[in-house]
Amino acid sequence: MDAIQIYGGNCLHGQVRIQGSKNAVLPILAAALLIDGVCEIENCPAISDVYHMLRLMESLCCTIDRNGHTVRVDAAGVSRCDMPPDSVGVMRSSIMLLGALLARTGSVSMQYPGGCVIGSRPIDLHLEGLRKMGVVIREREDGFDAETKGLTGAVHRLPIVSVGATENLVLAAVLANGNTVIENAAKEPEITALCDFLIKAGAKIEGVGTKRLCIRGVEKLHEVSYKVPADRIVAGTYVAACLCCGGEVFLKGAPCMQMKAVSAAAASMGAGIEESKEGIAVTCIERRVMPPGLITACYPGFPTDLQSAFLAAMTLADGEGVLEETIFENRFRIVPQLRQMGARIDCQKNKVCVSGVRTLCGTTLRAEELRGGAALVIAGCAAQGRSVVKNKHFIERGYEDICHDLCSLGARCKKE
Ligand code: UD1
Repeated sequence: MDAIQIYGGNCLHGQVRIQGSKNAVLPILAAALLIDGVCEIENCPAISDVYHMLRLMESLCCTIDRNGHTVRVDAAGVSRCDMPPDSVGVMRSSIMLLGALLARTGSVSMQYPGGCVIGSRPIDLHLEGLRKMGVVIREREDGFDAETKGLTGAVHRLPIVSVGATENLVLAAVLANGNTVIENAAKEPEITALCDFLIKAGAKIEGVGTKRLCIRGVEKLHEVSYKVPADRIVAGTYVAACLCCGGEVFLKGAPCMQMKAVSAAAASMGAGIEESKEGIAVTCIERRVMPPGLITACYPGFPTDLQSAFLAAMTLADGEGVLEETIFENRFRIVPQLRQMGARIDCQKNKVCVSGVRTLCGTTLRAEELRGGAALVIAGCAAQGRSVVKNKHFIERGYEDICHDLCSLGARCKKE
């Protein structure tokens, strides 16, 4: 069965190692297409989005060798430029291949990408930016054909901050003819990871980690070995799990420097947070209190990807609180299910008002997307009695083994 069964009510105690970052590794895999030779990517998370990406890359004639968490990509044979529609349709990150593949082959034919149902998620900024770099794009009803006689550097000013568009333009720019400037670039740590990878391979990028990236096109990139950083969103999910269930956990390898807003939110709810080079220790002994108002924002703000997990924690906090979503318009899909567990939540457009309850009750739930699904699992761990979260495949897109991780912290859950 495609479900997770949970017996809730246990406090969490123990330690868990944080996996490699999904949002970092996907554009890095796309970047491997740009490299003349073999790339070795370590700490690659074993998640279904990565498997999808690797299958897509194989369909483009890359040779992939996966050994545990190490993936070697040899893109020497890349010749295909049409992406299989079934793979593109299921994963938004397939759009990452666009910039890289245009640099490599000069032409791409693909369907519009799929992904989580958390909003309209257009790709207009990606396409507009690439047009500026000399790409002719003909849109069809279900996809588009893109072609270039050679990418040229350009000055971009993104009208809204977009992680994916920034990444795609970086990928298109590193081998382009001339200089590219990206103003109002996203500053997410996953973009820094992509730039670090590319710089290690010989790319010339300045302004990494800032909102202005300057890229000088180079002739070619060389072989590289790179270790993917730990996943700040997975670590943040387990911070929220500790807030939900209470207890004391150590998140080994959690990237605390990238998690300041998350740690601050958890601390404002009454958790003790201790950061070190080795990871983050979270202690949550007292009952939680509502945060003074939590609002999602671009990095370094509170990440939209942790909004659902913190909403689950807020349902069990003392008092009343407001959580506001500013990045995606359809990201409160778990509210009806949390209500079914006894949570008191009032939804108003992009805001929810939460009145804390003392307990949630286990029930049958249905994941509809990745992060919301993980939030339902941690709510189930805190709830009294048995819960079943259906559609675990959504959660497996980004979590290597959420049951194993939570069980090693003392929760009782298993795949059905
Ligand atoms: C990435 C992350 C996702 C995270 C999101 C925001 C990956 C694989 N995914 O998604 O987990 O939730 O950043 O931190 O890294 N937009 C447009 N036009 C575009 C592109 C985006 O209007 O061409 C809008 C989106 O609808 C959204 C906002 O820009 O409202 C931000 O989206 P974006 O940063 O691009 O998100 P993704 O890259 O899809």
